[in-house]
Amino acid sequence: MDFELKTLTLAGAAAEKCDALIVLVTESFKAASDPLSALVAGALKAGDLETKPGKLLHGYRSAGLAATRVILAGAGDGSARRIQSAVQTAVSGFRNTAIKRIAICLPHDAGAGAVRAAVAATAETSYAYVATKSKPEGRALVRVTLVVADAARFSAELATARGVAEGIELARELANLPPNLATPTRLGQEAKRLAKAPGFKCEVMGPKEVAKIGMGSFMAVAQGSHEPLRFIVLRYNGTAVGDAPVVLVGKGITFDSGGISLKPGPEMDEMKFDMGGAASVLGVFRALVDLRPAVNVVGLIPSCENMPDGRAYKPGDILTSLSGQTIEVLNTDAEGRLILCDALTYAERFKPRAVVDIATLTGACVIALGGVRSGMFASDDDLAHALHKAGETAFDPCWRMPLDEEYAEGLKSNFADVANIAGRAGGAITAAKFLQRFAGKFPWAHLDVAGTAWKSGAAKGSTGRPVGLLVEYLLGLQTKPQARAKGTARRAA
Ligand code: BES
Ligand code: MN
Ligand code: ZN
Repeated sequence: MDFELKTLTLAGAAAEKCDALIVLVTESFKAASDPLSALVAGALKAGDLETKPGKLLHGYRSAGLAATRVILAGAGDGSARRIQSAVQTAVSGFRNTAIKRIAICLPHDAGAGAVRAAVAATAETSYAYVATKSKPEGRALVRVTLVVADAARFSAELATARGVAEGIELARELANLPPNLATPTRLGQEAKRLAKAPGFKCEVMGPKEVAKIGMGSFMAVAQGSHEPLRFIVLRYNGTAVGDAPVVLVGKGITFDSGGISLKPGPEMDEMKFDMGGAASVLGVFRALVDLRPAVNVVGLIPSCENMPDGRAYKPGDILTSLSGQTIEVLNTDAEGRLILCDALTYAERFKPRAVVDIATLTGACVIALGGVRSGMFASDDDLAHALHKAGETAFDPCWRMPLDEEYAEGLKSNFADVANIAGRAGGAITAAKFLQRFAGKFPWAHLDVAGTAWKSGAAKGSTGRPVGLLVEYLLGLQTKPQARAKGTARRAA
């Protein structure tokens, strides 16, 4: 799917040949004398069109219009948020149709964020999973023209929006794949493929290398499965090699059965999405391939299955993590923190400016925040503020949660330095407190995306979150002095 910008008035848009022309109509709509304006003004006057987002009025082969269909769509106050929901509503009507080319007329006074909102909504709504269907009916849309008053003003915004959309789409596609295809090995191959772009590097380690490093906690989770584990290290250099990188750590459990502490049957299929954190890291790197911001980024993905087996780890086992801390396993279903803790310790070697882990970590976070906001925990206020702000801008919001020391009380163990679970109360927070023990040497944040990485029910599928938040955060680092302290030179492509 290709996006392009065009400078046109509504009079010009009337001559735009396409399968469907979407006209966003805001509260401040002012009619000119062209046919399209007259159509909108007439519909508003007659009360057949409302400017509330979600309201649509359809026309077919209307006089004076080159487009086959015209869709007038209420866009409220014209804010990016309203544009996003208006485009979502309009484009969702194109599912299972042959509509290939569309044009979207943004409000003539559209401000920053409008193009981004329209691109994100179009990409999101027109995505179709086909990878494992025998009769694939994919996305029909091939060209989307964004009609604006001044295309030059939006060209940088369009480039960002495209890059982010590509990243989100890769994350969705990988997370939607079934667990027999999206194995740790496959994730390693996807990482290698991404790293073919200039400025990128990738190393994929297997069981032998991980044992040699001493990731005893990660290895224990993997040992119940026949699928070999992978530890993926992705690197992107967008600025001087010596500049401290941001490290992203993604939970890559490609199937979480719970292990010996087996999960109940209903909805267990959804535990294929337990690699959503890993998929989001790969999605961010996909966006970096296109956007090439002046920042260094490392992606770390510990990936394995969590399965019950004669060789599986079990409650009571004591593991020795890479950090040297010993861990008593009280529940094999609290496996995410056990693979992440070793990756967090590994992150120390990059002397990072910040480490952000992304994980579908706890059912408790779904109870706390539902599917609207991801849970965000941070040891550093600046990092917390930057992530929060990025989430708001990217329409991929998060909410900061507490890390008081008292929450760590329940993790005490009689037989090891720490236990892998505490009681039921505050489960998302106690999980974060566990991780924090391994993140003492750098500014650290943890995004619990258990509620936001995928949707259940009829709309079951990956959302690609929090790729939008993370890319926005990384782009924001470019202008900060720290990123430029040691030189602004970009590495040659
Ligand atoms: N992957 C799950 C978390 C999860 C559960 C995400 C349901 C989305 C929906 C994680 O590995 C897990 O099983 N967590 C346990 C922790 C518990 C044993 C302390 C949970 O949340 O029940
Ligand atoms: Mn689990
Ligand atoms: Zn899990």
